Amino acid sequence: MQERTFVMLKPDALSRGLAGEIIARLEKKGLKMVAAKLLMMDENMASKHYAEHVGKPFYEPLIRFITSGPVLAMVWEGENAINAVRKLVGKTDPHEAGAGTIRGDYSAIKRMNLVHASDSPESADREISLFFDESEIIEWKRADDIYLHD
Ligand code: CMP
Repeated sequence: MQERTFVMLKPDALSRGLAGEIIARLEKKGLKMVAAKLLMMDENMASKHYAEHVGKPFYEPLIRFITSGPVLAMVWEGENAINAVRKLVGKTDPHEAGAGTIRGDYSAIKRMNLVHASDSPESADREISLFFDESEIIEWKRADDIYLHD
């Protein structure tokens, strides 16, 4: 089933020069980037994006971190895109994330775990609409599309 998911490279990914590597992994899987925006998140946007975590012990440091530098917000599309991206990204805790996953290979602590990816269709819809207007999402074909879905 073709799906869209929201993916955001966090300030550590940009600062550590890992944006290209992370994007390459999603591209090689056969997923298609359909929107992208480099921005600084302000506190208002960060609190909306992480509303479900308000009150948790890691919330305040998370907001400070996510607003500390540029993030690359993106929408990716493809077969079971939500689950596919989460598998590539790996578990939140880098010590539990498997080798071969983005977090397993490149991150060291839970907060600065390089990338955010939607965990359900409802989150994907909510997160995409927080960052993008529908008009900013581009419909296009990859040259290899015929191999990537039925
Ligand atoms: P993300 O997938 O963006 O969703 C919530 C974020 O909060 C998570 O990635 C981590 O960056 C951070 N996070 C989640 N759990 C913890 C934790 N126990 N300690 C510190 N940061 C956390």
